[in-house]
Amino acid sequence: MTSGGLFSKDKLCPFTHRILITCNEYNINIPVFYGDDIPTQINDANKDGTWPVFQPPGSAGLLKDSAVIVEYIIDNSDADGSQYYSDDKLIKLLDDFILCISKIIRAGHPGVQMECRKKVDMVLLEIQKILKASDGPFLAGEKFTQADAHITPFLYRLPFLKEFRNHIPALLIEDEAIIKWVDSCTNRESFRKVAPARNLLRTFYAEKALLGKPMKIGQLHHSGFRGMLQELIKRTDRFSQAVDPGDEFIKKTRDLCYILFRAIILHAKFENLLLYPAMEIANVNPELTREAEKQHEHECVRMNALLGQFDDVLSLSDDNRHPERIALANDCESIKTAFIEHLEFEEKHFMPVLAGLELPEHINLLKGAYNMCKEERPYLIGILAAFINGVDIISLIDSLLIAIHPNSDDWYDLINAIHKSVNTDQWNAITRRYEDSIPASLLIAPVSQWHMDYSAWAAAIDTDLPINKLEIPPCKTN
Ligand SMILES: [Fe+2]
Ligand SMILES: [Fe+2]
Repeated sequence: MTSGGLFSKDKLCPFTHRILITCNEYNINIPVFYGDDIPTQINDANKDGTWPVFQPPGSAGLLKDSAVIVEYIIDNSDADGSQYYSDDKLIKLLDDFILCISKIIRAGHPGVQMECRKKVDMVLLEIQKILKASDGPFLAGEKFTQADAHITPFLYRLPFLKEFRNHIPALLIEDEAIIKWVDSCTNRESFRKVAPARNLLRTFYAEKALLGKPMKIGQLHHSGFRGMLQELIKRTDRFSQAVDPGDEFIKKTRDLCYILFRAIILHAKFENLLLYPAMEIANVNPELTREAEKQHEHECVRMNALLGQFDDVLSLSDDNRHPERIALANDCESIKTAFIEHLEFEEKHFMPVLAGLELPEHINLLKGAYNMCKEERPYLIGILAAFINGVDIISLIDSLLIAIHPNSDDWYDLINAIHKSVNTDQWNAITRRYEDSIPASLLIAPVSQWHMDYSAWAAAIDTDLPINKLEIPPCKTN
């Protein structure tokens, strides 16, 4: 005689959650055993190794399919299951949906992606019809049923379509009935009791997303540079006016320039040492990487000269430097044009190749990028984030979370740096998304005075890692 129980290899298993949701709906307590706690005789009996399995009390046999286990639990509960059961055809439709979601997230192959994306759209149209007829919020109307429980653990994973594949079916964000259904199911108490933490799922998918993880990080850094360049030109426009803006304003503009240049040389260092060699391995024409490296060299000379020019203007008295101010404003405009041309050159030639790299290469590049940032303290990413819009910051953090663990010191330093530099709206967007990975102290702390304090930024980076001259190490492939 056995007391029975549910046996599952993994606490993140959505099929196990499907069963536990039903148990919670019916207030049934069954013993659950995970991983190493599974008795040897169960491991031995479950020869094909698919989990979870259920051993009914008093039985030696095992039930194997989560849908079958759910039916057994309902049939053997005291309650009348007739209100809970769903039509087999509906369950089959949801199974198609589940398979496609999982393939989109985990298999990056473009052919598989395209086919599954089409299928998800078709299934969602069917679901939309069912919800309209049921008058929601659930598939059968007011009552939460077997079909809702069947799919709830997978609805909870939908944000990962966007996070990992930058894809989200239009109906999921536009159709009110579908949105209400997703939220009603995933907020249901029977699921909340077993819902895994998002950061655990994120790590799980990061390890399983085998192909073509979109690498957006380069582009996102570029968007921070574009924001900083725009801010720089807004300030230097005042240099050309008849009234002198004053030493303090010019000094602050120099500080912004200095921070921008420190971030640019760090970015160029990453590209010369890690990205361009990876591009060449991926068969990018070496002439293109050499050209990009040459552009870095030119930029470096110009950046040093421009900082010197700022110092010259600051050494002159404010009634005697109008021509120098105009020349400085013009040179800032021209360096901005050169930078933007360089960013566009890289985006045109390297971004498509980067997007096609396989996941382990992405992880290597991301780790390399993050480690270089760490050398200069993570606040450079924080400062850059201050110039990136909310959606792009989320993408940047999503990408970094592939390389750094959400419970690590690196994560803490990074999120602290971003917290220090961004504004309230940006921070609210971040906390909404990563609520379960952000330390409580940062959830309640107001956004710091550091935001947009160029002089404090420049002083911090210069105190921690002072340099005499901006330098970019040469490309490793040469
Ligand atoms: Fe570059
Ligand atoms: Fe770049």
